Amino acid sequence: LENGLARTPPMGWLAWERFRCNTDCKNDPDNCISEQLFRTMTDLVVSQGYAAVGYQYINVDDCWLEKERNIHGQLVPDRQRFPSGMKSLADYVHAKGLKFGIYQDFGNYTCAGYPGILGYLQVDAETFGSWDVDYVKLDGCYAHPSEMDRGYPEFGYYLNQTGKAMVYSCSWPVYQIYAGMQPNYTAIIQHCNLWRNFDDIQDSWDSVQSIMDYYGNNQDTVVPNSGPGHWNDPDMLIIGNFGLSYEQSKTQMAIWAILAAPLLMSVDLRTIRPEYKAILQNKKIIAVDQDPLGIQGRRIYKHKGIEIWSRPITPLYQNYFSYAIAFVNRRTDGTPSDVAVTLKELGLVSPTGYRVEDLYEDVDYGVLTPQTKIKVKVNPSGVVILRADVQPDFNRRVPYYSTQR
Ligand code: GLA
Ligand code: GLA
Repeated sequence: LENGLARTPPMGWLAWERFRCNTDCKNDPDNCISEQLFRTMTDLVVSQGYAAVGYQYINVDDCWLEKERNIHGQLVPDRQRFPSGMKSLADYVHAKGLKFGIYQDFGNYTCAGYPGILGYLQVDAETFGSWDVDYVKLDGCYAHPSEMDRGYPEFGYYLNQTGKAMVYSCSWPVYQIYAGMQPNYTAIIQHCNLWRNFDDIQDSWDSVQSIMDYYGNNQDTVVPNSGPGHWNDPDMLIIGNFGLSYEQSKTQMAIWAILAAPLLMSVDLRTIRPEYKAILQNKKIIAVDQDPLGIQGRRIYKHKGIEIWSRPITPLYQNYFSYAIAFVNRRTDGTPSDVAVTLKELGLVSPTGYRVEDLYEDVDYGVLTPQTKIKVKVNPSGVVILRADVQPDFNRRVPYYSTQR
């Protein structure tokens, strides 16, 4: 969607995977979906350094609504849990220099059973505009997938009519795929800034692997659809929760960067351990994710549990890209595995060479020719991610692409 927004994949915090539909503020006041939770996370995104590395959106997900609309047909946030209202919460987020996102559903109900927008598309778009919302995720439960080709653009039209620019996150393709339809990605690119293609992420390594497999197995269909203003969304980062080990967390971050994925953390920022925070704040990997070319990467090798993923990035020299390369070890039967490969075998063929660095470890391989064989040691369920910057001239070093945006 060419609305000037999401020129790089959106980054922020999203409530769903970690906090779900916890509405029990009586017994669990610190973890229920409430304005207090979003204010607290807003504060932490700023005070704990996440905003400084690019995380920007504070996104509400399902379960923020009253079960009934008001007498004017307008949406009403839950009166107990959001007593100050959504405009006030948006103002709070804006005052901290961040942006505010909200959730709705194209059908009769949201996935958790709150009122959806069907029959109220214009009213609801106007409501979001009046609340100064910056980002709308429009889910697709309780709707007919065949109506989405009409409905998602129509709601987008009403969002646009408000005059307030909002990132538009769609679940349009995933529900159509579930219904056995072939999504019209040309239309989806035109009307949405990002979209879900596959299952909800859950707090497990199995879930992360199933998502990696989906994007690897379907890369010829999905990769070409991604670019500035329009992104595939493999779902939230679950780093810092309960289901991923340290190695697996590093793998999720690296592969999401290769996929040019939106980086939407769903984690309790009050209790996250420092090593997981460091993964989420790894500036070199964020720079890969946010690379201005916006070319989604691919799985270029998969054999006996070893995968290699590659993404073209800046800087360019003549016709040669630079690359981010991730080596993933999905074997469960062994110790750290050695992978040895020449740059040429990875498709890195510029005769001027590449400066190669590890993005997690402090390892600088120096400037290498395409014939050079590099050897990495990849831990079980872990990753090694490298960056190879094409050299304009063999002896001159090119700095990392600036993370300034
Ligand atoms: C769907 C979406 C999730 C989340 C829930 C909320 O499952 O895919 O991301 O928004 O609904 O109910
Ligand atoms: C029909 C049904 C509604 C709703 C819409 C969705 O109108 O009666 O309940 O499911 O389709 O488009």
